[in-house]
Amino acid sequence: MEKQEIRTFGRRHGKKLSARQNTLLDTVLPAIAPINLPTNAGLILEIGFGAGEHLREISRQKPDKIVIGAEPFMNGVASLLSAITDESNSIRSEYKNIRIFPDDVRDFLRNTDSKFEQIWVLHPDPWPKARHEKRRLLNADFLKLLAIHLTAKGEIIIGTDHWEYFDWIENQAKETELNITIPDLQTIHTRYQEKNKAETPSPKYMILKN
Ligand SMILES: C[S@@+](CC[C@H](N)C(=O)[O-])C[C@H]1O[C@@H](n2cnc3c(N)ncnc32)[C@H](O)[C@@H]1O
Repeated sequence: MEKQEIRTFGRRHGKKLSARQNTLLDTVLPAIAPINLPTNAGLILEIGFGAGEHLREISRQKPDKIVIGAEPFMNGVASLLSAITDESNSIRSEYKNIRIFPDDVRDFLRNTDSKFEQIWVLHPDPWPKARHEKRRLLNADFLKLLAIHLTAKGEIIIGTDHWEYFDWIENQAKETELNITIPDLQTIHTRYQEKNKAETPSPKYMILKN
């Protein structure tokens, strides 16, 4: 991260990891770093995948694509690693197309020329207090960075149950060249969405394209 860049995420570490999770972080994670990505294969990126339920779903649905997830919260990364490996710590066959960047996605994007067919951002941290607004990830500068990394027909799919943040993101998108559509998508179930659905309104989705 550039020195003065503002952090868009909360904790990097939560409850203590299990011995198995630490082993997976030491051995499996380095082996699935998103390096040497093919230029001719379809690439999909999910930003802030949490514990990775949706990332795993895309990976199973699209076995011919490489699915890259970026997430700085190490407990989430460890949960995903547990879910995609078998008892001998090998990646399960249906998840061989997953790559993980365990840090701030902006660092990943600034160091790759890769272009993505889809970029998913589901339930980005809303930072609801006015004094935290500068922590919001989906500002115009970040959307412009994403736009550079879209294939010609590529799309950014954003979903949030925080309607004020949704409107804020839409306004940020208007400061970019991106075209905005509001699709009528069925609710995409993620851990965050399941945990919060009793207290928050249903998610709204937005698709941005060049
Ligand atoms: C509210 S959680 C939602 C997680 C998941 N998408 C879900 O719906 O269950 C937002 C996630 O975005 C991650 N995040 C925040 N800033 C990020 C960044 N700059 N790069 C990658 N992930 C980020 C956080 O660590 C957190 O796990």
